[in-house]
Amino acid sequence: MASLDNTGWSVPGLLVALLLVFDSGVLHVRGLEVSTGKVSSIEAMNGSTVLLPCTYSSCIGIHKLTFSWHYNNNGTMNKLCEGVVPSEGVEPKVKVEHDRVEFVGSSKSHNISILLWNITFEDEGEYTCFAKNPKEMNRNHSAIFTLRVVDQMREVDNTLTVIIVSVLGGVIGLVIIVMVIKALVVQFLLKDDEKNKECLVNASGNDNTENGLTGAKAENKGTPKA
Ligand SMILES: *[C@@H]1O[C@H](CO)[C@@H](O)[C@H](O)[C@H]1NC(C)=O
Ligand SMILES: *[C@@H]1O[C@H](CO)[C@@H](O)[C@H](O)[C@H]1NC(C)=O
Ligand SMILES: *[C@@H]1O[C@H](CO)[C@@H](O)[C@H](O)[C@H]1NC(C)=O
Ligand SMILES: *[C@@H]1O[C@H](CO)[C@@H](O)[C@H](O)[C@H]1NC(C)=O
Ligand SMILES: *[C@@H]1O[C@H](CO)[C@@H](O)[C@H](O)[C@H]1NC(C)=O
Repeated sequence: MASLDNTGWSVPGLLVALLLVFDSGVLHVRGLEVSTGKVSSIEAMNGSTVLLPCTYSSCIGIHKLTFSWHYNNNGTMNKLCEGVVPSEGVEPKVKVEHDRVEFVGSSKSHNISILLWNITFEDEGEYTCFAKNPKEMNRNHSAIFTLRVVDQMREVDNTLTVIIVSVLGGVIGLVIIVMVIKALVVQFLLKDDEKNKECLVNASGNDNTENGLTGAKAENKGTPKA
C-alpha cells in the first residue's frame, strides 16, 4: 500500500528523487502529482450529475501517462474509465467502461476529471483517480474523491433554512409572549390603583389630553405660517 501514497515521500521515492537531483542538477524535483483539488468530497442530490475532479502535474514532463478512475465497491475496485496521455498537451484516448461516465478532462489543463450522470444512492462511496508516468519508473499515484448522495428532502441548505426559520420564529414568538405577559401583569397591577381613582382619572384626565392635543396641533400649524 505504501506504493499508492500520494502525499508523503516514501523511502524509495526519496532515493529516486535524490538520484534525479544528482542526474539533472535541478534542486526541487517533484515527480508526478495527482490531486482532486482543495475539496476531496462532495454531497450531491440523487438524480443530479456530478463532476469527479482530478488533475495531475509533473515537473519532469509527461510521456505516455496512463490514468484510470476506479469506484471502490466495498473493497473491489470497479474500473470506470482509463486512458493514456501520449505527451504534454496531447489529448488522451479514453476508454469509458460505465454507461453514466463521461470523460471531460483536457490535457491543456492537465485535467482528467469525469462526469457521473444521473447519480443514484448506489453511487455513493470512494472514487480513486490513478495516474502513472513511465518517466518515473512507473510509480503509482492516486487521489481519492468521496461522493455522498443525499435525498432532495434532506438537502443541507433546506435543513439550515428550516433551522434558521424555526429559531427566528421561536424567538419572535417568545418576544410576543413576554410582551403579552408584561402587558397583562402591568394592567393587573394598575387595576387596583385605577379602581381607587376611577372617577378622578376619567373626568379630568380625558379632558386634559384632548385639550392638550388640540392645543399643540393648533400651535404647530400656526408656527410655520407665521
Ligand atoms: C431521490 O430519491 C427519492 C427516494 O428514493 C425519490 O423519491 C426521488 O424521486 C429521487 N429523486 C430524483 C431526482 O431521482
Ligand atoms: C461489504 O463488505 C462487508 C465485509 O467486508 C460485508 O459484511 C458487507 O455485507 C458488504 N456489503 C455489501 C453491500 O456488499
Ligand atoms: C440522465 O437522465 C436523463 C433524464 O432521465 C436522460 O435523458 C439522460 O439520457 C440520462 N443520461 C445518462 C448518461 O444516462
Ligand atoms: C476540469 O475540466 C472540467 C470540465 O471542463 C471543469 O469543470 C473543471 O473545472 C476542470 N478542473 C480543473 C481543476 O481545471
Ligand atoms: C500500480 O497499480 C496497478 C493497478 O492499478 C498495479 O497493477 C501495479 O502493480 C501498480 N504498480 C506499482 C509499481 O505499484
